[in-house]
Amino acid sequence: MEPVPTDLTTALADVRTLLLDTPHLARAVAAGRRKGLEPPAAERVEVRPVQLKAGPHLQFTARTGPVVSTRNVPVDEAAAAVDDLLAQPYGNLHVETATEVVQVRVTKKGDAQVHRAAAAHEAGPAGHDKAKNRLVDPDDPLFRVLGAGGDKRRQVEAFVRQLAPLAPTVLSRPGDRVRAVDLGCGNAYLTFAAHRWLGDAARAEGKVLTTVGVDVREDVVATGRRAAAEAGLTGLEFAVGSIAGADPYADGGPDVGPDVVMALHACDTATDEALARAVRWGAPLVLAAPCCHRDVQRQLHGNRAPLVRHAILRERFADVLTDTLRSLVLQLLGYRVEVVEFIDSAHTPRNAMIRAVRTGSGPRPAARADLLAEFDELTRTWGVSPALARMLEPELAAVRAGVQAAL
Ligand SMILES: C[S@@+](CC[C@H](N)C(=O)[O-])C[C@H]1O[C@@H](n2cnc3c(N)ncnc32)[C@H](O)[C@@H]1O
Repeated sequence: MEPVPTDLTTALADVRTLLLDTPHLARAVAAGRRKGLEPPAAERVEVRPVQLKAGPHLQFTARTGPVVSTRNVPVDEAAAAVDDLLAQPYGNLHVETATEVVQVRVTKKGDAQVHRAAAAHEAGPAGHDKAKNRLVDPDDPLFRVLGAGGDKRRQVEAFVRQLAPLAPTVLSRPGDRVRAVDLGCGNAYLTFAAHRWLGDAARAEGKVLTTVGVDVREDVVATGRRAAAEAGLTGLEFAVGSIAGADPYADGGPDVGPDVVMALHACDTATDEALARAVRWGAPLVLAAPCCHRDVQRQLHGNRAPLVRHAILRERFADVLTDTLRSLVLQLLGYRVEVVEFIDSAHTPRNAMIRAVRTGSGPRPAARADLLAEFDELTRTWGVSPALARMLEPELAAVRAGVQAAL
């Protein structure tokens, strides 16, 4: 639904009512500053209901730069704390309740633009140790539009759960836009779910999200476009083309690329194409759940080592070797990398995920030399040349030259 211009006092009174309706409140965020006014006391305040031993409280978590402070206020004394918060000149207020998501943006003129949408969260006070709220509502009408089954819904929920804790990496960057891509988007279940969740999170920080799903198949792109129009989603686009050639934000200027690169089960070396694109864009955040690993598997064929002599073991070992080499390449090129299981294998056997956060400076010279030695030893021992290293040959050659120069 489009934002509705509203008098600011009325909008703040509505937000006050929602914040004090703690049984139905999920969370709220105050962030951003109003044009022409002094900044608020804290850069960002998150408010959520919590159930403590002493009873239900509203928890206020304030952050300014790296400094975070938390205050718990009993709900029957929370009105004053809420009034103090709303008196601060925040530019954006984002409230999630059991039934709706309300976003208030204060305009340059000092009016409010109020955006309301159906909730994708369960609400109510949560114990500290069991915040079970779903990030992606399995009953979201989007899934009906897309026709996603239960396993796919669980996979995209699990994927978005991996994205959520890393999202502040991109949401805290300067600028009012956040850009995401889903490479090899296929039927676009993840594209829609991530756009839904990250769009809300971006709005809570006063930013606007664009997400582009890319796929070589014209039919799935056409379906994605139709579903986006049907669901009335803004900022969600689709592009036909290969991942290797994808550059959906090229119009923004030479240094503009996606902040978040996602790839869920992009087949074989399409995952490498996605990782290589991410590196060349300098994307701050990359999440890739690989699919089959035929590239390295093919290169291991004929190797008589016991570990890879049997086809099934060769297949499994190729998975491990490929993702290990991918991780090393990403680390060498300036990313902090974790490989995690993003979902139980009962839902998909392809349940590994590479999560990479760009660190900028990359590893220290000694660590870089060690990583390079590990990469060289693995590729030499197994006689393989992994696709990602082939795609990023110039970048890796520069790292190699740097390591050799430092010797
Ligand atoms: C297994 S499907 C996964 C789709 C989706 N990400 C999901 O998990 O539901 C892989 C998708 O990647 C697309 N694809 C494979 N190689 C590609 C490439 N090189 N460039 C663009 N798309 C590619 C395929 O057309 C297919 O739609």
